[in-house]
Amino acid sequence: MPLEGIYGRNEPMTLVTSATSAIKTAVLPVAGIGTRFLPATKAIPKEMLPIVDRPLIQYAIDEAVAAGISNFVFVVGSHNRSLLEAHFGSSPVLEKILKTRGKSQELELVTGTSKGITSINFVTQDEPLGLGHAVWCARDFINDGPFAVMLPDDLVQAEPGCMWQMVDAFNKYGGNIVAVEDVPRDQTNKYGILDVDEDDGRIASARGLVEKPNPEDAPSTLSVIGRYILGPEVLEHLERGEKGAGNEIQLTDAIATTIGRVDFRGLRFTGQRFDCGSKAGFVAANVAYALARSDIPDDFKVLLKSLV
Ligand code: UTP
Repeated sequence: MPLEGIYGRNEPMTLVTSATSAIKTAVLPVAGIGTRFLPATKAIPKEMLPIVDRPLIQYAIDEAVAAGISNFVFVVGSHNRSLLEAHFGSSPVLEKILKTRGKSQELELVTGTSKGITSINFVTQDEPLGLGHAVWCARDFINDGPFAVMLPDDLVQAEPGCMWQMVDAFNKYGGNIVAVEDVPRDQTNKYGILDVDEDDGRIASARGLVEKPNPEDAPSTLSVIGRYILGPEVLEHLERGEKGAGNEIQLTDAIATTIGRVDFRGLRFTGQRFDCGSKAGFVAANVAYALARSDIPDDFKVLLKSLV
């Protein structure tokens, strides 16, 4: 059986349309310590926690590959590099056992983790000083062109995928683009929030971006989720290492400093986002992805109904 794609299809969805683009590199910051998932994250990094039967990071990679991205930079801590290497690398002993036992479908699942990937580079963030700092750590691999940033704990169930939609928007508008969704006003203090200039319902041009504003100060309720397409200009600000909200080096602050020089837009993506950094979001994602899978029997739905 080929690798099952993120939408319960039989293959990772690779769309070759206008979204085949200039964006070839994605940075995946995974150096956080995942305190909200302790004790699970004591030994298993958050991005390796499974949704149904594959780790969160695999969904992000499949989404990126479907958008034409093939080079990846993992910003890791001291704890998780070897696990990521094991997941995306070859596994000769396991592969030999599966071959010997004639388990061709399982073998394809094992070898398919790296499908569509041209390169993975690892950089270490010695201390989790913030998302902005994590992205800055990847600077040597960014090559002076636009790049994507994806947070694997934001899982987006969408067709076409969220990154595909973003690349498509980037091809049209250029500039810095973030995926956005509306949040209840009393939750603006958890997110980066756009100060919107013009909004056609799908694309919001913004004149500002504020990290975690209090509800009464928030310029809108349009919040940034963990998908970005950014130009190298953001690195100029990150270079200075200035700390922002939560005493962390914030990516949103760096993006905000480029507004005026670089166009900045929010894309209201089509799809369902699950915040898998929170327990409720993680459990909901498992249910939603299980429901979308053809290989999980209908008994699951019956059980689910009986539970609620
Ligand atoms: P979070 O803010 O969810 O932090 O990071 P966390 O450490 O992973 O989890 P909690 O809040 O303690 O439960 C969002 C993403 O940014 C990465 C994380 O690994 C995660 O993918 N990140 C965050 C870094 O790589 N470095 C940082 O300094 C901060």
